[in-house]
Amino acid sequence: MTKPIIFYFSQEESLSLKIIKKTGYKQGKVTVRHFPDEESFVQIHNNVKNHDTVIVCSLNEPDTKIIALLFLMDLVRELGAKSVGLVAPYLGYLRQDKRFNKGESITSKTFAKIISAYSDWIITIDPHLHRYKTLDEIYSIPFTVLYTADLVCEWIYKHIQKPVLIVGPDLGSKQMVSDLAKKMKVPYIVLRKKRMGDKDVEIFGTDIDKYKDYKPVIVDDMISTANTMTATIKHLSAKGIEQIACIGIHGVFTIDGYEILKNSGVKKIATTNTISHSTNQIDVSDLISYELIKRFS
Ligand code: R5P
Repeated sequence: MTKPIIFYFSQEESLSLKIIKKTGYKQGKVTVRHFPDEESFVQIHNNVKNHDTVIVCSLNEPDTKIIALLFLMDLVRELGAKSVGLVAPYLGYLRQDKRFNKGESITSKTFAKIISAYSDWIITIDPHLHRYKTLDEIYSIPFTVLYTADLVCEWIYKHIQKPVLIVGPDLGSKQMVSDLAKKMKVPYIVLRKKRMGDKDVEIFGTDIDKYKDYKPVIVDDMISTANTMTATIKHLSAKGIEQIACIGIHGVFTIDGYEILKNSGVKKIATTNTISHSTNQIDVSDLISYELIKRFS
């Protein structure tokens, strides 16, 4: 059987090389560059004929990546690949899941249509699902969702002193934090969030006085502007709770997000390597490698 070939973009190099090593699949080589007028150039340097191909591309900052990704997927198919699959450890464009105001584009749907037209399947990790129950409400290709809960528990066991309190910053995090707390047999609280704007959030709620001696770990599916995390840290600090750690499954981090979080008084920051960042402490390469091996064996 011919080995699958794994292509990746430069931002995904570190994670992809781990996956290539663990699966033993072939390393794909792709050149992506931009002409002076900003048009994209894409070239592959492998013979893909009759090979299954996998493209690793985390879809944070999706507008900067999507065109080259579509060109690459179309190219390998045109050159005879047996299949073209996408590993998007972080899947962007899931937040606009409804037309909040008249005339707005439901970008999650359109984005899903575009990806579904070019890829045979998709693997992703802990997608941000709010109004959609599952991805098949918008994606028309087979997908596999992987979860980081066990890896997150492991990180907490290793890095946080007992007694641990898991903190969810908003109702959207309830499922994730309650599952984690159940796995770890520790208590959890879920706070409430009021979002006034992209960069303006307020966190409130829940009587946390009885957890004063606990070591809180705030867990959220993503950290973007970091306003949710910093407002949660502020809320806990105001209650006299210290030694706060935070985990963002996906460290999306907008331009100043990391600086803001670093200066918030938080003691530890950890993210998974679904998006490459200096805070990556939780490695998802095993998770993806096992899934690929299962798929192609
Ligand atoms: C919201 O529903 C998400 O779970 C996160 O809480 C949110 O996206 C974090 O964004 P930010 O870091 O910009 O506050």
